[in-house]
Amino acid sequence: MYELPDQSGRLVVVTGASSGTGREAARRLAVAGAEVVLAVRSGERGEATRQKIVEEHPPSKVRVRRVDLADLASVRDFADALTAEGRPVDTLINNAGVMSTGRRLETPDGWELNWATNFLGHFALTVRLLPLLLRAAAPRVVTVSSLAAAVGRFEVGVKRPRRHLLPYGAYARSKLAELLMAQHLSLVALAREWPLTSVAAHPGFTRTNLFLTTAPYEGGRSRRGWIARLAPLLAQDVTAGVEPILVAATADPLPGAYYGPGGPFSLAGPTTLVRLPRSARSPDVAARLWREGELLTGESIDNYDR
Ligand SMILES: NC(=O)c1ccc[n+]([C@@H]2O[C@H](COP(=O)([O-])OP(=O)(O)OC[C@H]3O[C@@H](n4cnc5c(N)ncnc54)[C@H](OP(=O)(O)O)[C@@H]3O)[C@@H](O)[C@H]2O)c1
Repeated sequence: MYELPDQSGRLVVVTGASSGTGREAARRLAVAGAEVVLAVRSGERGEATRQKIVEEHPPSKVRVRRVDLADLASVRDFADALTAEGRPVDTLINNAGVMSTGRRLETPDGWELNWATNFLGHFALTVRLLPLLLRAAAPRVVTVSSLAAAVGRFEVGVKRPRRHLLPYGAYARSKLAELLMAQHLSLVALAREWPLTSVAAHPGFTRTNLFLTTAPYEGGRSRRGWIARLAPLLAQDVTAGVEPILVAATADPLPGAYYGPGGPFSLAGPTTLVRLPRSARSPDVAARLWREGELLTGESIDNYDR
């Protein structure tokens, strides 16, 4: 098991910390001494996570803050409340995610659900938290992508993309966008000589609630796709699945690195550096995607660069 370096004095924000890899990452980081903000859509599940962490490790410093990444107004409120507190953010872990199985689901703002939650929400959050991140000595942004990014396709400038041929196409598209976002942020940080490191990670195939997270948009019931049916048989435990995220968040930074499991097909196994899928290797595409994120969310680095 990866042994985290001492995280005392670091403030870490983890999105989706009420379940799965986010909850496990928050727990491990708190035990390693970090002050952790659980950025969650359900205050109740966030509080349950907080209590569990504190029960296991009473000195833990853990707070719950509500944010619905599928709602840009909520993302702005969350970031602004942290900004008002003024404490520099050392690490932002863009971990939350939904995976819908085919039927198009939309947010109240009319965005496709995977795109809104996984990409637009995290894009807006990252850009809006930049001032706090840039006040930290060695800030880091970890964005959690997926093997699915390899089959992701998107068309820039299209609010209602064509139907995806794959049932998980909308998810793949959003995870590709997150991976490109991480790459572009890394290049921006280098170009602007920021001390910020942007890296990405994926947890391979890990047993979590991922296949149920669309439930609130489906009247409380999520449809289970074929991947969900395979998970109990093939997926690794969350204590293993979280490791690439923890390595990305705490090991010596390699700007633009992508961490994942090193076993066959990167589905499981010890953490290693993994190759970017072909779909995520073009800096031009990453820059266009970034511009798209700016246009769609109204958040731009230039609003916040010091
Ligand atoms: N599990 C895998 O095999 C796998 C593979 C590749 C990538 N990933 C990625 O790993 C990350 C973590 O997923 P997981 O597997 O740990 O699944 P999970 O157990 O379902 O956790 C997802 C988390 O995201 C939160 N979330 C969903 N929608 C949100 C929203 N609108 N606003 C704020 N939070 C929201 C969920 O909150 P609730 O608790 O309220 O539902 C939950 O805490 C995701 O980015 C996922 O794409 C997972």
